[in-house]
Amino acid sequence: MSASQVAGTFNSTSNEFDSVTPAVWGPAGQTLSFALDLRAGESVLDVCAGTGASALPAAMAVGPSGTVHAIDLAEDLLTVARAKATASALRNVEFVCADATEWEAPSTIDGGYDALSCSYGIFFLPNMEVSFTRLVAMVRPGGRVGVTVWRKGAIETFGAAFFDVVARYAPEVAHSGPRSKEGYASHPIRRVETAESLSAWLQARGCESVRVRELSNHVPTTDVFAWNFVLGSGFRGALSAFDDKARESIRREFLELLATRGIDSVDASTLVATGIRAS
Ligand SMILES: C[S@@+](CC[C@H](N)C(=O)[O-])C[C@H]1O[C@@H](n2cnc3c(N)ncnc32)[C@H](O)[C@@H]1O
Repeated sequence: MSASQVAGTFNSTSNEFDSVTPAVWGPAGQTLSFALDLRAGESVLDVCAGTGASALPAAMAVGPSGTVHAIDLAEDLLTVARAKATASALRNVEFVCADATEWEAPSTIDGGYDALSCSYGIFFLPNMEVSFTRLVAMVRPGGRVGVTVWRKGAIETFGAAFFDVVARYAPEVAHSGPRSKEGYASHPIRRVETAESLSAWLQARGCESVRVRELSNHVPTTDVFAWNFVLGSGFRGALSAFDDKARESIRREFLELLATRGIDSVDASTLVATGIRAS
């Protein structure tokens, strides 16, 4: 997806995206922030920040003397994030609408960020190896780097049901999401979806002492959650070709198919990886 397609897709999710935070984005963001072992006064770069699932806990962890720069392409999600920061009286986090592949650390970040975090974001970056290596280079030597990604198999039965219904309406819809049939094997997520491959990937980006933990997360598939998860995530991109009437039919058939297949929970299990930027 191009930067403008990413921004368009995620801006359109803004009504539903944050409703999924308590069950999905939030637990991973909290875990990532904790795993980064952030201390008072530190500086953090959080890329692909969304509504702040990892940036807000990071801001709490580094405290008023610390700084978090939270970057995302989707201004509508950042508006939600800023409101949440205000509600939590967090003045040390700046949500900036920018492309992570072009972000430059401001001169106030002397010697590099103390930590870099990216929750469910690396696989959206064009040429994710080049893009993330560049971001790691903005961390001071000895600083920490952390990412979360879907664990191999996560959201797979859910995604398969969704794309099976979409295909009834438009088999030709080209969608490059991680669980779509089209491009499944070649999607960048395939390179980082196991503990071993993610660890090797981070080492190749300039990190050492890499540790990968698995966050188990199984969310009950209520109708409300299931459809909000479609509308509030990258799955939504597959609906852009349809009008409201077709979307409503897809919603109904998708919920019926989940029930028929006995999919009563969504496996949202996630790998949480951290490493140290090598000197
Ligand atoms: C699945 S969401 C995750 C958001 C957040 N980290 C969370 O866990 O709730 C992925 C986010 O990455 C953002 N994104 C994708 N490519 C980006 C880029 N090149 N620069 C900045 N943000 C990007 C999208 O706009 C979207 O908000």
